[in-house]
Amino acid sequence: MRLRHLLAVGAAGAGAMLGIATAAGASPFVASPHHSVAPDSLRALAARVGLHVGTAVIPFDLDHPDYASVLASQFSVVTPGNEMKWQVVEPTQGTFDWSGADRLVSFAQQHGQLVRGHVLLWHNQLPGWLTTGVANGTISNDQLRNLLHQHITDEVTHFKGKIWQWDVANEFFTDSNPSMINPNDFWISHLGTGVIADAFRWAHAADPHALLFYNDYNIAGEDGSNAKSDAAFAFVRQLKAEGVPINGVGDQGHLDTQFGFPTQMTQDLQRYAGLGLKVAITEADVRTFVDGPDTQVPTDHLATFAQPYEFSQMLKACLAVRQCISFTAWGFGDADSWIPGFFKGEGFATLYDVNLQPKPAFFDLQQDLQLAAFGAPRRFDGR
Ligand code: XIL
Repeated sequence: MRLRHLLAVGAAGAGAMLGIATAAGASPFVASPHHSVAPDSLRALAARVGLHVGTAVIPFDLDHPDYASVLASQFSVVTPGNEMKWQVVEPTQGTFDWSGADRLVSFAQQHGQLVRGHVLLWHNQLPGWLTTGVANGTISNDQLRNLLHQHITDEVTHFKGKIWQWDVANEFFTDSNPSMINPNDFWISHLGTGVIADAFRWAHAADPHALLFYNDYNIAGEDGSNAKSDAAFAFVRQLKAEGVPINGVGDQGHLDTQFGFPTQMTQDLQRYAGLGLKVAITEADVRTFVDGPDTQVPTDHLATFAQPYEFSQMLKACLAVRQCISFTAWGFGDADSWIPGFFKGEGFATLYDVNLQPKPAFFDLQQDLQLAAFGAPRRFDGR
């Protein structure tokens, strides 16, 4: 990913100014109360209703003190953007590299933050040795299944006791054929649909206390028709009925101002919750068309209103559902966002601008959380 414009934001950084206390060695399951965070920070405000506000983190964020300060001071749960993906943790078969993920987990522990593990079963960012082996027939389907079982066991065991929520399975529905699990998915085509339930069982066996999530995009009405949500709902209901150890559903929440806000989001989240599941917004961002990747100024001036509006609506959908236990943004600065690299011509998707200054979306979320303390249902986060 290209790193953009890192202008100095005062070396003191928000965290230092706010007097972030760290407690090295603290349990990750001991969260913010032990840390002095500013009472108007997102994490402190969210804590008043039992919600965790999070962000995806890339090494860049930890390398730059101004980013690390914002990370520590505003968020109470972190997700590694890439560092727990199979491609990263086992680049060569049998050779593991946990260093990036360990570094983030240790940062989280020092700052009283929880960790969302991401991701165990997904068709993307798989190691080359695995996909090549499957393609050239040197890895049979039986071997593939064993390798997956081993991978999930290795990874969940490595982080045992340190992960609050695991994204066990990711993106098994498509927008083009939303009514069923994608039969052409790498895992489904080789191992059948049952592999998803098995992944939950294997993860549960390795860490019985982690909350296990099914995670996907456009499963809270973002497609307009709600077809993908209907399919995901039917699927997780079936998993629950079969006694599969699934604890939650994550809606990624990658929105785009050109499509308008999904009006069904609260009802869709509530519907999952009605199955006895937790829900979470796991990868929130709201993108729009911009002048260029370095400056990320919206080209349509109305987008400067639509972007914070959609962020705020998404948070409110979560706040309205008692079982919604975390709201995670996919990166917190436009300079560390994946959007310009993946959606041509788009950006401005996060809470802070390219110079790490808070944008209207940040202040809207802050205000929503302030108001929530006077009326949103208090949630129990499952710990
Ligand atoms: C993205 C990362 O942010 C990028 O850095 C990486 O190159 C590709 O993956 N849905 C997911 C995330 O579940 O893992 C993806 O993360 C974004 C879409």
